[in-house]
Amino acid sequence: MIALEHVSKIYPPQGRHGAEVRAVDDASLEVRDGEIFGIIGFSGAGKSTLVRCINLLERPTSGRVLIDGRDVTALEGAELRAMRRGIGMIFQHFNLMPSRTVEGNVELPLAHAKVPRDERRAKVKKLLEMVGLADRARAYPSQLSGGQKQRVAIARALACDPKVLLCDEATSALDPQTTMQILKLLKQLNASLGISVVVITHQMSVVKEICDRAAIMEHGRITECGTVYDLFSNPKDPSTRAFLDMASNVGAFYETFDEQGSLADLRDGTHIWFLTYTGKSAGEALMSRIYQLYCVEANILYGDIDYIKGRPLGKLAVNLRGDPRNISLAVKYIRDQGVKAEMIK
Ligand SMILES: Nc1ncnc2c1ncn2[C@@H]1O[C@H](COP(=O)(O)OP(=O)(O)OP(=O)(O)O)[C@@H](O)[C@H]1O
Ligand SMILES: [Mg+2]
Repeated sequence: MIALEHVSKIYPPQGRHGAEVRAVDDASLEVRDGEIFGIIGFSGAGKSTLVRCINLLERPTSGRVLIDGRDVTALEGAELRAMRRGIGMIFQHFNLMPSRTVEGNVELPLAHAKVPRDERRAKVKKLLEMVGLADRARAYPSQLSGGQKQRVAIARALACDPKVLLCDEATSALDPQTTMQILKLLKQLNASLGISVVVITHQMSVVKEICDRAAIMEHGRITECGTVYDLFSNPKDPSTRAFLDMASNVGAFYETFDEQGSLADLRDGTHIWFLTYTGKSAGEALMSRIYQLYCVEANILYGDIDYIKGRPLGKLAVNLRGDPRNISLAVKYIRDQGVKAEMIK
């Protein structure tokens, strides 16, 4: 549905001593028809710029953008406007017109597309029902909660039946409960309309909850791309890994670990192992097995089970104590059970 081929966006230097900014640097990716695709990364990584290149709110300095197989990079005027109608977009701060009612806001893109008045009315009604706001049609944005405002923005973005919905930090200004409701709505719309959704966020929880696949960005580059479960359970790129650790609970563990030098007294020459297990293999049961089999004692320093689109992903940091040969056997046993084991200290 969307293909970016070697897209770069370079902003010219600002001021006399400024340097040019490579906001997006040779980024290539594909968003498949009907999928929910995430783009994650720290602030300033280039996520917004990348997504604005999709609907040409920003023109790439180089590279090509294909929508539904068609190169749109060179479009201008009426053709560009028609292409943009096929791509809806929502933002962190909703960007509603304060002087217009809810229905007035949703009607606007239909008016721009010169849809006749009767048709517009019927369409607005249907859209507001779809986002659960039929009873607030006459309200003004200032009379709505953040979650309701985002629903209006979603209805407006869907007015011209786009094939793609771009969401730039759409839930970043909302509390966790409202965030979940909006994500649920996006999931529903993705399923019922078959619309492809691109979600840009720095919130890991959003990606874990709704995305099929995701790309991670750093300094304008895409460092890694894959299914969300693979990214979280087995990141290949060291910077991807650092980013995911920092943005999850395990980041807090490493921080304390670094600050205190060690969480456990390691003067006895023992080591700390980090275990990652997927599916149903339970980490703690494994620890009791290695005690029974090899007399290796495991002191658990950190444990967490994350759910990614409903699939468990467990992490355990343990200090293993026992005869060194038995520890080797225990680690082999752990690995034979399909659990990833790495010595971290
Ligand atoms: N119009 C512009 N002119 C010059 N530099 C820009 C412009 N827009 C963005 N940048 C720079 O490009 C880089 C990427 O910015 P961008 O907004 O795409 O990051 P982001 O990943 O969306 O960040 P955030 O998570 O904070 O929204 C930043 O260094 C930013 O300062
Ligand atoms: Mg941004």
